[in-house]
Amino acid sequence: MKNHFLSLADLTKDEILELLDLSIELKEKQKKGQAEPILKGQTLAMIFQKPSTRTRISFEVGMFQLGGHALYLAPSDIGVGTREAVKDIARVLSRYNDGIMARLFGHEDIIEMAKYSSVPVINGLTDLLHPCQVMADVLTILEHRKNLDDLKVTYIGDGNNLTNSWLNFASRFPMKLAMAIPEGHDPDQEILKNAKDAGISEIELFRDPQKAVKDTDVIYADVWASMHQKDETEIRKKIFKDYQVNDELMKHARPDTYIMHCLPAYRGMEITDSVIESPNSIVFDEAENRLHAQKAIMVKLMGK
Ligand code: CP
Ligand code: NVA
Repeated sequence: MKNHFLSLADLTKDEILELLDLSIELKEKQKKGQAEPILKGQTLAMIFQKPSTRTRISFEVGMFQLGGHALYLAPSDIGVGTREAVKDIARVLSRYNDGIMARLFGHEDIIEMAKYSSVPVINGLTDLLHPCQVMADVLTILEHRKNLDDLKVTYIGDGNNLTNSWLNFASRFPMKLAMAIPEGHDPDQEILKNAKDAGISEIELFRDPQKAVKDTDVIYADVWASMHQKDETEIRKKIFKDYQVNDELMKHARPDTYIMHCLPAYRGMEITDSVIESPNSIVFDEAENRLHAQKAIMVKLMGK
């Protein structure tokens, strides 16, 4: 595996499988009270340009469970690119810490951070990608479904950092990835092309959510306006109104289809309260698995 975790497209299929195996092992040991302090004495600097619940807490708790310590650096603390240049932050933080996790706006900034950092850099979300989330998602699907054979995941909504990360996953791991996305909000064109060119998955873009969910194992939702688009919330409510995951849409899917959402969810917008609270919903297992999946990523990158 590379020294950094920036994109699932940087991993091979075997490396993804190794991370999943390690996530399961670390999770089992933690639940049995047999966790080992694999990262004893190590520190992780966590830089946030955007808000977070799951990412901040799962990395912080994960580091503590591994015997290390995480430092939370809020948007106002560091001033990425405003108070200080990314390349200077990367080099300074590398002198104090064993790893850096960053949630940034520009994906180019996390690439620059990794270039100048002498310790591993983990992508905790950029406008373009959210690879830690998809590792946790796949772990959750594996636990519930018992295998990943002939998996079909259907993403409904905005072609955003989650969609792009699912496409990267599909470029490495054989699956069916259906996306129902309104025109003008497609995922990143280069990532979509690369995923199709990789030729190992069936990738289909629909405009009609009802067609996309046919015979799917998972329906996946995310917010219509991501954190860097909050000023577009009102206009996006109109654009995406036919892309809500609701009881009507569920009638077009199999009765055993899992419901996933990376959270935070806006109930009544991209997903209804009844769907997210339904027995098919595995959103809280998914949220928990951020912890276990990221512990595996940290152990792989930072373990001596
Ligand atoms: N899913 C996710 O990344 O949640 P946070 O934004 O709360 O970290
Ligand atoms: N697409 C969302 C994901 C939040 C976890 C965002 O970028 O805000």
